Amino acid sequence: MSSFRISRSYQFTLVIFMTSLFLVLVQCREKREQKDLLIRGVIADSAMVVSARVEASRIGLDVLRNGGNAFDAMIATDLALVVAYPFSGNIGGGGFTVFRTHKGEIGSVDYREKAPLAAHRDMYLDENGEIIPGLSTLGALAVGVPGTIAGLFEIHSRFGTKPFSELIQPAIDLANNGVVVTKKQADRLNRYRKYFEQANERTIFLDREWKEGDTIRYPDLAKTFERIRDNGREEFYQGETGLMMVEYLKKLGGILTLEDLAKYEAVWREPIVFEYKDYRIISMPPPSSGGICVAQILKSVEPYEIGQYPHNSARYVQLLAEAERRVYADRAYFLGDPDFNVIPLDSLKSAGYNRHRMSDFNWDRATLSSDVSHGDIQIIESDQTTHYSIVDTYGNAVSVTNTLNGAYGSKVYVDGAGFFLNNEMDDLSSKPGEPNMFGLIGAEANSIEPEKRMLSSMTPTIVEKDDQLFMVVGSPGGSTIITSVVQNILNVVEYGMGMQQSVSAPRFHHQWLPDQILFENSFDTLAFPELRGKGYSLSKGTSPIIGKVDAILVLPDGKLEGGADPRGDDKAVGF
Ligand code: DON
Repeated sequence: MSSFRISRSYQFTLVIFMTSLFLVLVQCREKREQKDLLIRGVIADSAMVVSARVEASRIGLDVLRNGGNAFDAMIATDLALVVAYPFSGNIGGGGFTVFRTHKGEIGSVDYREKAPLAAHRDMYLDENGEIIPGLSTLGALAVGVPGTIAGLFEIHSRFGTKPFSELIQPAIDLANNGVVVTKKQADRLNRYRKYFEQANERTIFLDREWKEGDTIRYPDLAKTFERIRDNGREEFYQGETGLMMVEYLKKLGGILTLEDLAKYEAVWREPIVFEYKDYRIISMPPPSSGGICVAQILKSVEPYEIGQYPHNSARYVQLLAEAERRVYADRAYFLGDPDFNVIPLDSLKSAGYNRHRMSDFNWDRATLSSDVSHGDIQIIESDQTTHYSIVDTYGNAVSVTNTLNGAYGSKVYVDGAGFFLNNEMDDLSSKPGEPNMFGLIGAEANSIEPEKRMLSSMTPTIVEKDDQLFMVVGSPGGSTIITSVVQNILNVVEYGMGMQQSVSAPRFHHQWLPDQILFENSFDTLAFPELRGKGYSLSKGTSPIIGKVDAILVLPDGKLEGGADPRGDDKAVGF
């Protein structure tokens, strides 16, 4: 027997020490893994879907795996989001798609909501001409004519390779089998409960207080999808589903009619195309302000070589905020539905115009928004949301942003049909000059008129480099969508970030009015004293997150890197 004996107390101390060391190492590894997740995205050889929910991403990827193209996958993903992400995934709302085919053909589809025929300029004002709070955001009067189903069928008719009935089936199954509620989803559903009660007599969301791990089944929605599967597009616009929608809205005091539904059409539009350095950027034209505003912001900063300033440093924030201030002032004045307005798109995105707009920018002090108005252009040219990105094995890419506008839209949940309707009417100017729910000011170009499409900030975007697909990007976030997309393009193009690192990086935002720079809570405050010293008003803490970007980057070796926003439950999947 050895003469060396370890005392019991020493043995005990050793066990405690080893256990603690093990736990510390495990924690360190978990922290490192979490950090890695913020920096390194999912890498795939040839196909990828990044969306707000894992169920929807996987359903889209299955379509790709079975030989479907990006447009097929888009339809399946979109419909799956209606089930898994009712916060903004929708058939009762609208959206935009920007695409680039493997042959390099580009285009965009507008299935934005429209104001109903019975809408009129002052419909949200009282007898004194003041805005009646909530009328354009909550309940039946807030609802615009939905466009999503028209958009999906339109895209399918041109680019789909699989039968629509096959593409809608996974969403039917998901609705019948149910979706497991995440923590973020449970918190949100409980937070909005009082609004669901105000807008409806009953909905499944009022059944109970939700907690993480609960399963929600959507039998009414499954039946609606089955009817659409069997009867096609007309089921929604002229069939039983349309009738259910109109009758329910009528009961709640709405103005949407069967005629509104019958008249709705999705529109193919020429995308906004412009160059930033060696990159060609393709984005959404009006009625979205997204593409034109991204073009203007990037054209404004291009002469300054913004990449020379450290990322998120005072100078970087200052330059971008000053460009944004001027561009959002233009947005408020010039932009609206192109079917109702002449918009000077070519002038607005020209390098010369934006250089001129920046000519009074001074590094020493903030420009005041009260001193900034829209630019001087003679109009002579005739001319809570969710984003997902898909690239298929053939090299087709789609960039899709859909919205109900606010979280769960108008909160009106069509009784018996199982889906939310939008509150997109708030994106029109209830009263020109007054801010909407995103603080955005609209002018005459965006005033309420029957059948007008409301101005949007949604910015589904595709970037090319050397004539090849480079990046697919977009975001929800109302007015902050545009600036989130700009920052992600700059993160990759100017700062060499990978897709996930770019998506995870803290963001900021300026929109002319209110005159302040809004920062995410995670934003490093190092730059703040310098910015304050120059007269900038800084806001932090009111908006914990800005945007929720789901994007795909083509890496130098041709592989794809997904960036799924850690601000949500978003997920990149690929093969
Ligand atoms: O079209 C628009 O600009 C808005 N309706 C988007 C709303 C939105 O992004 C809400 N999401 N957080």
